Amino acid sequence: MASDWSPASLARWLRVGQTVLYRIQERMGVKGMRTSARILRSLLGFSLVLVLLSACGGGGEGSSGAAGGEPLYVIKFPHVTAPATPKGQMAQRFKELAEERFRGRVRVEVYPSAQLMEDTEAIEALAFGEVQMIATSLSLYDRLTPKFQVFDLPFLFSDLVAVERFQRGPAGRELLGALTEHGIQGLQFWHNGMKQFSGPRPLIAPADAAGLKFRVMESDLLQAQIEILGGSPQKMAFGEVYQALQTGTVDAQENTWSNIYSSKFFEVQPYMTESNHGYIGYFVGVNAAFWQSLPEDLRAGLTATLDEVTLWGNARSEAINVEDRQRIIDSGRSEIAVLTPEQVAEWQAAMRPVWDQFRDQIGADLIDAALASSRPRE
Ligand code: LMR
Repeated sequence: MASDWSPASLARWLRVGQTVLYRIQERMGVKGMRTSARILRSLLGFSLVLVLLSACGGGGEGSSGAAGGEPLYVIKFPHVTAPATPKGQMAQRFKELAEERFRGRVRVEVYPSAQLMEDTEAIEALAFGEVQMIATSLSLYDRLTPKFQVFDLPFLFSDLVAVERFQRGPAGRELLGALTEHGIQGLQFWHNGMKQFSGPRPLIAPADAAGLKFRVMESDLLQAQIEILGGSPQKMAFGEVYQALQTGTVDAQENTWSNIYSSKFFEVQPYMTESNHGYIGYFVGVNAAFWQSLPEDLRAGLTATLDEVTLWGNARSEAINVEDRQRIIDSGRSEIAVLTPEQVAEWQAAMRPVWDQFRDQIGADLIDAALASSRPRE
């Protein structure tokens, strides 16, 4: 078959190439997270795809050619949580609805529980077009944008309703476009829930956290938050947390009830504190070049399907977390402490310096917009 050198095809490859260059530039400065070997591997993979495509003609990243007709677009969608979590359920529902509505045109391959890759790898794979869609914690993007850190400022959002109000407002909508220069287009935000602490001893006062090794996500802000409490933060991928808690590599962690239950952290953490000190939610992003390569009607249809799934799933996320909290209690493996308002105020005061440390990076305007969403409306 002849090579496809049409302007549309060339423009698409140009975008992919541009993404590759962005990533290389950026990764050169990133400590610890990426290696030049990985960059090389991706470059080799990219060159191989180019060679194969020019030899066979047609096809694009994320699509597999269908003889004589429109290609079948394949959306690889890896994520790290269990299928029963809010994210797991939304990913599965998106797959089912998309494949039913666009039969023969799209296949969504969902890989839950970090079975394909961990989160930081998934962000990189998305930018390179190795996968087409991700829903990765908002805490994990500080190498690409400082703005998402607003979601991690301790005790900023009072609850999921406040988060939702912020995400649906103009400042939140604008954040969906924060990664376009990296070849990533944001489509939606998905909720998990509010974060709780767990550990080897009751964490009632902030001083109880001192000296403990806490697993945190790959986030400088979350690292600072634990340091301020006198703990020792250890950045770690989600898929490694259970074993690290079990073997004592780390003593404590912070997460939502649904993650603590579905990943069985409650089996190896005898004490939990209902602190609601932060939020875990997801940036649902697609590889921008892939998304633009879809026929317009398909792109519009998938966007509408994702919007529908988001409404459905975000409305259920609170209930899933409440059910999982109860399951932890019923297991009898872990004791949950509920803080008094005075105790909550102590944690707030202890963690507040994180705000000053990160205000300039995040931007005072963005923090104000987020704060406004937590205030009761008249
Ligand atoms: C974590 O790493 O603790 C969470 O972000 C995992 C997730 O995707 O909810």
